[in-house]
Amino acid sequence: LNQKISSTQLDAQDPLNHFKSRFHFPKYGSKNTIYFCGNSLGLQPKTVKKFLLEELKQWEKFGVEGHFEGERPWKDYHKFLTPFIAKIVGAKNDEVVVMNTLTTNLHLLMASFYKPEGKRTKILMEAGAFPSDQYAMETQAKWHGLDPAENVVELQPRAGEFTLRKEDILSKIEELDDSLALVMMGGVNYYTGQFFPLEEITKAGHKVGALVGFDLAHAAGNVELQLHDWKVDFACWCSYKYLNSGPGGPAGIFVHEKHGNNPNILRLAGWWGHYEEERFLMKKGFIPMKGAQSWQQSNAQVLAFAAHLASLEIFDEAGIKNLREKSVKLTEYLHSKLRAIANSDSKFSIITPKNANERGAQLSILVSQNGKKIFDILTENGVIADWREPNVIRIAPAPLYCGYKDCDRFVKIFEMAILG
Ligand SMILES: Cc1ncc(COP(=O)(O)O)c(C=O)c1O
Repeated sequence: LNQKISSTQLDAQDPLNHFKSRFHFPKYGSKNTIYFCGNSLGLQPKTVKKFLLEELKQWEKFGVEGHFEGERPWKDYHKFLTPFIAKIVGAKNDEVVVMNTLTTNLHLLMASFYKPEGKRTKILMEAGAFPSDQYAMETQAKWHGLDPAENVVELQPRAGEFTLRKEDILSKIEELDDSLALVMMGGVNYYTGQFFPLEEITKAGHKVGALVGFDLAHAAGNVELQLHDWKVDFACWCSYKYLNSGPGGPAGIFVHEKHGNNPNILRLAGWWGHYEEERFLMKKGFIPMKGAQSWQQSNAQVLAFAAHLASLEIFDEAGIKNLREKSVKLTEYLHSKLRAIANSDSKFSIITPKNANERGAQLSILVSQNGKKIFDILTENGVIADWREPNVIRIAPAPLYCGYKDCDRFVKIFEMAILG
């Protein structure tokens, strides 16, 4: 990036800059904020209210008949989200569906795809994964009567390093060989912001006969994904981070068509996954419909889905490819500005990989002293970021509503906070 161009000019040249006006920004007291927390909870699109009101109106007008009447009949509501989601994660429409919440889906998918048998019992995950994922792996092992200490293998970075090296991930998979049942990792690690090489991990997992799934909570809507082409077996994500669906918003799943069209894979079934033409015949005997939809248990939580749909329309208009292109430039800009204020006795370092292909929007700043105090100064000055114990400040300039001037303003406040 040409450092001589001002951030005002860079914002003016940014073809996605106008999307900022589609979102509500919170204030801190009377201060305008810099919102660098889209990796935790995305901002509210201004259209959400309209989408919610439409469904309230539908309910008011039709009552139960809302399932079949109106512009978006509720019985099909999940289907309105499918094509948008498929594009975001690089899947065929039949391979994705929006349903439930993330941890629930993780368990449902593992019920189908973690099948320890004989010697092949192990799960490989990254050390320091989000706690919910750790608990899910631990209890999945126990559910099968296995000891998690032996069967959940956590891959640690090398001594003195914060992120995993690709060669270490791949060689661990090779080493585990026919004891490995499942690779189940994050797509982008929540703490370090490292974007793992998903395609190569998938290939390596398959080579030793294991299945490969990913938790894409921090990857969906953040980086470009090609889940179908990469032959990933399954994946799940939440939508309240980069996808801006609102607090506790609905989650999504991907099941590759090679599994989705196999009726013999056991699903923990509900009526919404049943062969659609016969769903309302109330017959005995579960017949899975085609694709990821067969993992659905319940009918759509329409109000939550409506908020998600509002946001997906904006996302689609911007396009994931364009968003990622901007995100790479924006985060690199922020990274270079932070490097410029760091020196050899620096009080902070960035633990997120330097290489843009190995990270998404997020940078994780490790603060050696008084981290929480520095974080509080940021907040008081209108920076909405987040603090992760014991010493990391996470900042994510989400490309839909953040710009270059925000990065400049952040760096100025951060420098003041760290020097003070
Ligand atoms: C990687 C990861 N997994 C799981 C979760 C838990 O999500 P939920 O509460 O929606 O189940 C989160 C939440 O932030 C997450 O980041």
